[in-house]
Amino acid sequence: MDLRPYLASGAAEAATAGLLDYQPFILSDDIQTGVAHSWLFADDPRVAPKLVFRRQDCTLERWQAVTDANRRLRAMYDDLLDEVAARFPGGTLLDIACNNGYFPVGAELRGMKAAGLDLGDRTDSFAFLNGALGTKARFLPVGYDSGSHALPVDEKFDVTVMTAIMCHLPDPLHFLAAASAITNKAILFWGQVVNTDSTIVCYSKPHPNLSYPAEFPNGFNDNTRISLGMFKEAARLLGFSEVVKIAPRPTWIMELFRPRGVDLESELNGISSHVALLLVR
Ligand SMILES: C[S@@+](CC[C@H](N)C(=O)[O-])C[C@H]1O[C@@H](n2cnc3c(N)ncnc32)[C@H](O)[C@@H]1O
Repeated sequence: MDLRPYLASGAAEAATAGLLDYQPFILSDDIQTGVAHSWLFADDPRVAPKLVFRRQDCTLERWQAVTDANRRLRAMYDDLLDEVAARFPGGTLLDIACNNGYFPVGAELRGMKAAGLDLGDRTDSFAFLNGALGTKARFLPVGYDSGSHALPVDEKFDVTVMTAIMCHLPDPLHFLAAASAITNKAILFWGQVVNTDSTIVCYSKPHPNLSYPAEFPNGFNDNTRISLGMFKEAARLLGFSEVVKIAPRPTWIMELFRPRGVDLESELNGISSHVALLLVR
């Protein structure tokens, strides 16, 4: 999201305060945030990814790469938000694991009424974005609890969003069930799926940088993927009538994903891919 038209001042202070970091925002001509560059170029993007970029600290080449990577992530998020807002105009939306609040404020800008929840406290970034954009997105300070499979939310939403979160959870099917229980109309998913119609769940080994060490089996926090076949079967069993694959566009970040050489990525290459799915009731 390009915040330049909305920020008369305060961009540098917001960046310094770390109000925005993981998601792709342009704060000023010289300050951008977002994880996309680390996804593409860090040795292991899970280990201390760089998230806030100042032009003065970058070579021209690096600044261009940062700009392109985060532009692609923004393009994808914005296209997904456009799709949801067009299908469910004026509806309600909850983003599970909302991080800085890109989806909730983006949904509000498109005429929806939105909230987000996250394990981390994002109160300040929501206040900052709402203040700058004139939106009223709510932050719910709760997380999904894999130990009890509980999503402590006592209201229902037309659309729930789950982007880049199932990959960190040990119990993806329980998570889907919990999200379904608070969803009136549709779930938007973005992340990796295993490309088969067989019903498969697979995990990488627990990654020490991703979350606190949890007791077996709740420590499986990395690269959790279910297959497309499992998505379709889970959706059917949860009362969704169709699973719509939102066609990826050449402007999206996935165009630049590539195998990282040995181990995980080569294991996944050709087996798994990132997809955007809409499960519709
Ligand atoms: C990879 S980021 C994805 C953020 C956002 N959904 C996106 O796509 O830009 C993962 C986010 O999930 C949050 N998170 C991790 N485990 C969670 C849980 N059990 N419940 C709620 N949020 C969680 C983290 O705090 C982080 O903000």
